[in-house]
Amino acid sequence: MTIPKALVERLAAAKSVTVLTGAGVSAESGVPTFRDAQTGLWAKYSPEDLATPRAFLRNPRLVWEWYEWRRKLVADARPNPAHLALAEMESLFPAFDLVTQNVDGLHQRAGSRNVTELHGNIMRTKCYDDNMLVSTWDHTGEVPPKCPRCGGLLRPDVVWFEEPLPEAALKTATNAARQCQLFLSVGTSTLVYPAAGLPEEALRSGATVVEINPHRTPFTDSASFVLAGSAGGVLPKLVEALKASRNL
Ligand code: OAD
Repeated sequence: MTIPKALVERLAAAKSVTVLTGAGVSAESGVPTFRDAQTGLWAKYSPEDLATPRAFLRNPRLVWEWYEWRRKLVADARPNPAHLALAEMESLFPAFDLVTQNVDGLHQRAGSRNVTELHGNIMRTKCYDDNMLVSTWDHTGEVPPKCPRCGGLLRPDVVWFEEPLPEAALKTATNAARQCQLFLSVGTSTLVYPAAGLPEEALRSGATVVEINPHRTPFTDSASFVLAGSAGGVLPKLVEALKASRNL
């Protein structure tokens, strides 16, 4: 795929860039996306049946074990060329904001420093009752384990359906969408709000918005540019084209 000349020019001229990533960016690291088929043990459940407060209260053991399965998958995964390209991009612009819906921490492991996690991080654990982060607890064999402070059930520090997003993260993400000259929407189905509203917000604020996704999404027809390919294939090409345009 060649990067359109007009896009390279805008990329080269941009002083502020904001990127929104979704599960598609981690797909090439072997981390299943949400709306592609769930693999293995969990094929019979949908994330909506597992990633909600009601599902957790109904069957805390099942939900905790689903996240343990995902934590192991993520711990064994490695950043792929998409994560590495975004980490390199951060140093190529005066202002660069990376906003992710992913909870796998792969952007940070790839070297990205300024990462806003809209949906939390699966490697962090908190107490369901007092909402405080917990880093160590007694491994008594109870599943889920109990909060060492108040005895409440422990849960992953991720945003579930029907739960509000972390306020500060959403404010940072919204400002970053409003203030950037160029916005990349990468590997997201653009279905889950408020994150899915960020590309539109950027467009409304006058930014050039690029969608990178092998498939169409509800935002595809609104995008300024559509690069129909994988994140791991397209993002490195974008970085190369940018560096070539600046003779880097
Ligand atoms: P989805 O699983 O909804 O969408 C993944 C997107 O990535 C799809 O549009 C795919 O076409 C695209 N895709 C697949 N492989 C790709 C690749 N190699 N390169 C680029 N794109 C690729 O995941 P999200 O959009 O991230 O929320 O889902 C948004 C939110 O819904 C998640 O954060 C999660 C989920 O429920 C919560 O858990 C609150």
